[in-house]
Amino acid sequence: MLKGKTVIVGVCGGIAAYKVVDVVSRLRKLGAEVEIIMTENAIKFVTPLTFQSISHRPVITDMFKEPEYWDIQHISLAKKADIIVIAPATANIIGKIAGGIADDMLSTVVMAAKAPVLFVPAMNCNMYENPIVQKNIKALTAQGYMFMEPDTGMLAEGTQGKGRLPEPPDIVKEIIRILTVKKDMKGLKVLITAGPTREPIDPVRYISNRSSGKMGYAVAQAAADRGASVRLISGPVSISSPYNVDIVNVLTASEMHAEVMKSYKDFDIIIMVAAVADYKSAEISDIKIKKKDDEMYLKLERNPDILKELGGVKGKRLLVGTCAETNDLLENAKEKLQAKNLDMIVANDVTMEGAGFEAETNIIKIIKRGGKIRELPIMSKLACAHEILNEIMTLGGYIKCL
Ligand code: PMT
Repeated sequence: MLKGKTVIVGVCGGIAAYKVVDVVSRLRKLGAEVEIIMTENAIKFVTPLTFQSISHRPVITDMFKEPEYWDIQHISLAKKADIIVIAPATANIIGKIAGGIADDMLSTVVMAAKAPVLFVPAMNCNMYENPIVQKNIKALTAQGYMFMEPDTGMLAEGTQGKGRLPEPPDIVKEIIRILTVKKDMKGLKVLITAGPTREPIDPVRYISNRSSGKMGYAVAQAAADRGASVRLISGPVSISSPYNVDIVNVLTASEMHAEVMKSYKDFDIIIMVAAVADYKSAEISDIKIKKKDDEMYLKLERNPDILKELGGVKGKRLLVGTCAETNDLLENAKEKLQAKNLDMIVANDVTMEGAGFEAETNIIKIIKRGGKIRELPIMSKLACAHEILNEIMTLGGYIKCL
């Protein structure tokens, strides 16, 4: 699967360095050529000989050692890389690279490389949550560097927390995903909405729905992986953010409406996956509403229909909606396609097991303007996302309109 690919693995000084031996072994079994760079601190945890035996390559530990190659070593390594994976990525290496410091072999190779760089952080949970580390991660993500989220569990110091190196098979899966995805959306700008909206009633209560954001986040991740420049306008969710995506957080349908209408003109493709509340409370109490009578009435008023409004102003932009239905799936989807002037709609029957809200998987039907329908079997939300984008890319006539 990785034959012909060169993976540079940068090992930093953390107890999780021993797990990276397994990552290298798995990459080799998949056919990748693996070059290892160890920092000065990393060799205190695992010996270079261990990595040399697994990678079958000399391990680079010293910037000024006699070079193995005829040209400048950090440049030749950077050129050769299809991907650079830094694992465990310590607060130190994250901070160094975010600050533009290149004072050892790993940081100079990263600085010289054009290949994608994947950081796999592992550290104490307080260190990981430190605002300085988080600011550095955000800054690097905005520059196109990729990050995996650490796992939560027992840490080396004996406490529970978020900071464990993800399991080697998951790291390898992420590397495969980055290396094998096609870049057919390079140059396209995609605006995506995801998650629920939350409509307040009083300071402690709100109206919302079961959307977890998983489907919309998967579409955003897939589009970014395929080279698109992606903005994600997200309602309140508690899932990890996609990599290389500009995220704008909103709470209510009105806020989502304002953000979408402010930015849509800058995008070629708009995909509305958010489950936007159709109604909001007509009045929002400043104080917690007390129980009085046996019955209580809440007056609701309509929220803006963002997608419908976009349908009226979209111009040449490609407009894609989704719909979550419990009955008459195709009839309702076709009606929305027409009424909201969409180019395509993705319908999911949320009563089916493995489909719709909160699930890891989805079962979708893609309906294009003109009536062509494609029904897909159950698959992961990320795989669904790629199928949705594949269909969008067949509507080539519409795209790249800016
Ligand atoms: O987030 P997950 O847990 O992964 O679940 C995914 C999902 C089920 C939420 C997703 O796949 C989905 O179906 N999203 C759309 C849900 C929905 O609100 O459908 P709808 O039929 O109410 O709306 C149709 C379209 O109009 C949607 O694109 C919606 O974003 C848009 N809309 C709806 C109401 C409104 N006021 N403004 C809108 O723009």
